[in-house]
Amino acid sequence: MPDTITSASHNKQQEALVHGGQLNKIALQYNIPLHKWLDLSTGIAPTSFPIPTLPGCVWQQLPQPSDALIHSASEYYQTPHILPIAGSQVVIQILPQIAAKQGYQSSRVWIPSVGYQEHYKAWFAAGFTIQRYHSANDIALQPKDIIVLINPNNPKGDIYDYEEVASLFRQVKHQGGLLIIDEAFMDCTPEHSFIRYSDEPQLIVLRSIGKFFGLAGLRLGFVSASDSWLTLFTNLIGPWSVSGPAQYIGQLALADEPWQRKQRAFLAAQSQELAQLLKDTLNVTPTGTALFQTVKCEQSPLIFEKLCRQSVYVRLCDEKNALRFGIPNQKDLARLKMTLNILFS
Ligand SMILES: Cc1ncc(COP(=O)(O)O)c(C=O)c1O
Repeated sequence: MPDTITSASHNKQQEALVHGGQLNKIALQYNIPLHKWLDLSTGIAPTSFPIPTLPGCVWQQLPQPSDALIHSASEYYQTPHILPIAGSQVVIQILPQIAAKQGYQSSRVWIPSVGYQEHYKAWFAAGFTIQRYHSANDIALQPKDIIVLINPNNPKGDIYDYEEVASLFRQVKHQGGLLIIDEAFMDCTPEHSFIRYSDEPQLIVLRSIGKFFGLAGLRLGFVSASDSWLTLFTNLIGPWSVSGPAQYIGQLALADEPWQRKQRAFLAAQSQELAQLLKDTLNVTPTGTALFQTVKCEQSPLIFEKLCRQSVYVRLCDEKNALRFGIPNQKDLARLKMTLNILFS
């Protein structure tokens, strides 16, 4: 059943809008020095694309539109309809105001009940009527409705396969609506990506360089959509929002297939080991992707607290009934194993 948003439930959700990656705050709260922590609170890969020495001009000059970056991105995402942005968060925030001006001002917006809450925050703030759904079966489309699909879902980790997305998209098109797919965590499962259809005017796809490439601080992402949408984004974002270093490093990362293959294999192996460890120690089968594993259990706040006291920081999900673990490298996995064994075996 879909949920209708009341102002009370809205306030509760806004209070809870905390992201992972806030180690400074947590370290202060638990009075444990920063260097002692194992930070698994985000879905960012623990190994990053190696940063080369950058030519001085990428720092010294204003960034110009980069054909080299567009070329690498078009090859990687398999679509020429691509615009670099300073992280997918940028478009999450401006999309509601652009959609409103494109004739969707009275649309209802379907947003997953559990998922990256910045989507909800942006559409609600822009005055849209929000319908929250637990699964795609809850969605009952009316004319011009908008669906936000987070695929794979963060933090739930479930994924809609290509056929399921195609079916949703057919319904959206039939109703004259809009499908927005946040594929920030799609890099390890490109076979389920819908990005190659983004020349369709009723589809917008977001991608991030932060997660799979382990470059969240670079602030680089892409939006893929038909040319008219891309022109609107370009005009609203303005010039120079993606820095020269981000363009340069992003181009190399997107073009480096051997590194991408190695990273996929590494993340898959680490994620599997993590899932097994969580199952063995917490007695819950996690759901997840190659970039994080999530365990759903009622004792999540207690487990979170115990882990923090051992200087292990994971993400306590907004609903307080699940914990998301980022992927550790081998050394950190050993430390996590020791901690979980001490606490829960
Ligand atoms: C599902 C999802 N989409 C988008 C983002 C924004 O990422 P970025 O702006 O770094 O591309 C995040 C950040 O955590 C996320 O979890």
